[in-house]
Amino acid sequence: MLDYAENDAQGNGRRRPMRIMLLGADGLLGTAVQETAATHPHVQQLTALGHSDLDITRPEQVNAAIEKTRPDAVINTAALMPADRCDEVPAEAYAVNALGPRYISRACASVGATPVFVTTDFVYDGTATVPYQPGALPRPLLTYGITKLAGEHETRLGSDRHLVVRTSCLFGPRPRSPRARDSFVDRALDRATAGGDLTVVDNVITTPTYTMDLAAMVLELLVSGAESGTYQAVNQGIGSWFDLCLAALTEEGLGARVSPTQEQSFTAAARPLYTPLVCTLPEPALAYSRPWRAALTEYLKVRRGAASQGLESRPS
Ligand SMILES: NC(=O)c1ccc[n+]([C@@H]2O[C@H](COP(=O)([O-])OP(=O)(O)OC[C@H]3O[C@@H](n4cnc5c(N)ncnc54)[C@H](OP(=O)(O)O)[C@@H]3O)[C@@H](O)[C@H]2O)c1
Repeated sequence: MLDYAENDAQGNGRRRPMRIMLLGADGLLGTAVQETAATHPHVQQLTALGHSDLDITRPEQVNAAIEKTRPDAVINTAALMPADRCDEVPAEAYAVNALGPRYISRACASVGATPVFVTTDFVYDGTATVPYQPGALPRPLLTYGITKLAGEHETRLGSDRHLVVRTSCLFGPRPRSPRARDSFVDRALDRATAGGDLTVVDNVITTPTYTMDLAAMVLELLVSGAESGTYQAVNQGIGSWFDLCLAALTEEGLGARVSPTQEQSFTAAARPLYTPLVCTLPEPALAYSRPWRAALTEYLKVRRGAASQGLESRPS
């Protein structure tokens, strides 16, 4: 059943203006959602709340915000990251990645809002030989993936109407929050610009994805009234972290030396090595899933434009 639009067979339809709440709003993806929503013709109102505005592990805060705002949808981009950090503080990881989604989903159900939970390729164990479909059996190896998988279940259990959106290997404009990490692409370019050499894993294969494209995909899912379920939202094509790094440096004309290495030489914990995702969005959201190299080219152009105007590429 379509909740928000009457679509024809191609997915073109009447879109309903939406009032959206965004949580974890100042992280890497949250920043891109804010930028995209600001000019989106069908986002009537965006209530963007960063960590300092609302702690998703506090149910009373979650309930009060959702009850007061009564949005049509709540996009939860808050997470405890990166994966290594979750192994260090597993209880905190469970609170942010699993309990928070539980509180959000239940609060959404009580006001008829759609919870949107952004989750990860790390729910898979990486032993596949072809990109993962959402029906593949999850088997997370790390605390991060285990707690995010629990968050997926909590989202589905809390509200019949829900969107669970798996994605991977994000790059895009620097997050608004100075506490959030820049993406791998920016960190690699910063290091190369400073004259440093890089050592990057070439045996971890993923689906690099541009946060601005992902933000457009998620908003399109919502305004086009996509059915409840689990979607995989990524750019097209696969690549290793080494491929992504080399593509970015080459495009920027940076001559830093990049040496390939193997994942196991960096960490003791077993990490998933092959987690590309098949993009399973319906039209019209699928239209925003272009090849990752084309998305990278666009991002670097935007980044250069900001630099040439003397602007900090971190949004204000
Ligand atoms: N980045 C990737 O490559 C990647 C890959 C696959 C999936 N994902 C998923 O995509 C989503 C967005 O990731 P991201 O890269 O944008 O992460 P991010 O940059 O680390 O942003 C996450 C945000 O969540 C906030 N946060 C942490 N704990 C919170 C809490 N208790 N209440 C409210 N906010 C809290 C953080 O604020 P503070 O920093 O102030 O604590 C941060 O601003 C996550 O669900 C992640 O699992 C990301």
